[in-house]
This record gives sequence, C-alpha cells and structure tokens, in this order.
Amino acid sequence: MDVHVSEAAVAIAEKDTGSFLDDVLRGLGATQKHLPCKYFYDETGSKLFEAICGLDEYYATRTETALIVEHGKEMADLIGPGVSLIEYGCGSLVKTRLLLDALDNPSVFVPIDISEEHLMDAAEALDRDYPDLEVLPVVADFTQPVSLPEAAENQDLKRVGFFPGSTIGNFNKEEASEFLGAVAETVGEGGGFLIGVDLKKDEKTLLRAYDDAEGVTARFNLNVIERINRELGGDFEAGAFRHEARYDEQEGRIEMHLVSRCEQTAQIPGHSFRFRKGESIHTENSYKYGVEEFQALAAGQGFSPVKTWVDDQGLFSIHYFSRH
Ligand code: TRP
Repeated sequence: MDVHVSEAAVAIAEKDTGSFLDDVLRGLGATQKHLPCKYFYDETGSKLFEAICGLDEYYATRTETALIVEHGKEMADLIGPGVSLIEYGCGSLVKTRLLLDALDNPSVFVPIDISEEHLMDAAEALDRDYPDLEVLPVVADFTQPVSLPEAAENQDLKRVGFFPGSTIGNFNKEEASEFLGAVAETVGEGGGFLIGVDLKKDEKTLLRAYDDAEGVTARFNLNVIERINRELGGDFEAGAFRHEARYDEQEGRIEMHLVSRCEQTAQIPGHSFRFRKGESIHTENSYKYGVEEFQALAAGQGFSPVKTWVDDQGLFSIHYFSRH
C-alpha cells in the first residue's frame, strides 16, 4: 500500500517553517533571550538527538524502552484490540514498533511530525513491515491542534494517543495542559492516552543526563545557532557560546542555555544582537513530574488514570489514561 501524507497538514507545516525568522527575532530581542526548542530538529539536530538517546548518562530512552518491553502486554490489554494509534512526534519508532507488536491487531497508525522527510521515511518503513496496518502520516506542528486525515476520522475505531520520550516535559505547565486538552479532544470519549513522563529525581543524575561527558548534548544545543547561520544567513560564532544545563528545583525543570563566552555582537542580515559575557540564550526546558502530580494535570483535561508503570530505580514513568 502507498503511504500518502495529509495535504491540509503540509500547508500548516509550510506556514510554520516560515516563522523561524520571526521566532528568532522575537526570542533574541527579549530581555532573557530564548529560542523555541522545536528548531533543534533539522537533519543534523535529529541525528544528534538519536545519539543523545543512546548515551549512558541519558537514562530516559533505555528506561522507557525497557518499561514497554516488560509491560507491553499489560499496556496492550488495557488499550484493547483494533485501535487507531496516534503518535505525536515520531522519532526512531523503536518504541512504536514494540507497542505495535504487543497490541492486538491495531488498525490504523497516524504518526504526526514536523519534518516531512523524516515522517515519510518512517511511515514507509512501518507500512512495509506492518502490511495489515493502515499508515496515515500527518505533517504538522503538534504543539498546535492537529486535525486527523479524513480516512482516520471516518473510521469508528477507538483512538489512542501515544507520546513517548517525555516530550511533554518540553512544554511549560500551561502548554502541557493545553496539549493534554487537545489530545483529549482528538481521542474523544472512550479514547486513551499512553504517555512517557520523566520523574523528579536527584539533581546530579538530571544534570549528567543533559550535559554528557562526550559533549553530544552540547553539540545538539549549539546546532540551533548553526541553523540560524545556515538558514537565515547569520554570522554567529558557535565557538563563542557554551552549553549549560541547570536544574531549577522550585520549577522542577532542567533548563538548557547557550552562554556567551565573551561580550559580542552577532548579525543576521538587517538585525544585530548584542551579548554580554555570561549572558545566555534559554533554549529548552525539560519539566519533571511526580506520578500524582502528572495524574492531576491530566485529570484537569478529562483523563482518568488507568495504570502507571515506573522502573525499579524510580527514574521514569509511563501513564495510561482513559478519556472520561
Ligand atoms: N524530551 C526529552 C527530555 O526533555 C528529550 C529531549 C529533548 C532532550 N531535548 C533534549 C534530551 C535535549 C537531552 C537534551 O528529556
């Protein structure tokens, strides 16, 4: 079967990429300079991210994967047969395949991703390996409400969202709530949501995970500056910035920053940005949640906890919710 990307969604994604310049101008014009984290993921950034996921220090990927391996059958029993699975942001699909393998006869798979090329490669590979599964990819920025392709809307199947990787942590609390509300609307009454959420833990473990010894996370962070140069004609000197991870315990979040090593000015045609020595660009947040804390957030958007799985070391959680 041929896989076709949803057309309406392509228009949304194109409109969105046009705003990189706007977002850079707005973010670097602010008192605390910042950049939206979705711009990490061009081809280089996506490769670096895959490398992060394999790092010793980055416990999240292997812990979440092991939870799916260990509890996949139970997850599948709770989810039920013949569902339509909607994945928000599709990465390497390793976890998706594990879940699909555990599920009883899944009918439809709707992967949503901002990168059309990556999405189509992933979708085609899945389509080949799962001939009975209808794969309906959607190119879209899932931080905005996403409409499903008609073929998925029209089928009277139970809809279940899948959002691994603790990507929810990259939203602030308000955005996370809004996102949960949008998922609740998409899956509808009787639908489900399986989501991986990183847990609060000691600062040392957290900082190591976001500032590895090999410097892969540093390169991932600095790539956003290279993108400004490549795509917007900037003259930023990546070597004049250093990667820094901070843990704000009050907020329960890791912050990533690019800290200016010196007083400097950088340009993109028509615009100039001054940096004091030590001044930072805040590039990402990664919020950590306690189990009950996250259940309460989801309950506010119409999700009842069905089951939560946590590894022995208390590093990572996967929640299954049903929409009441
Ligand atoms: N969402 C995951 C997290 O916050 C993965 C991730 C996103 C990440 N950006 C990252 C991991 C930067 C390390 C560095 O943990």
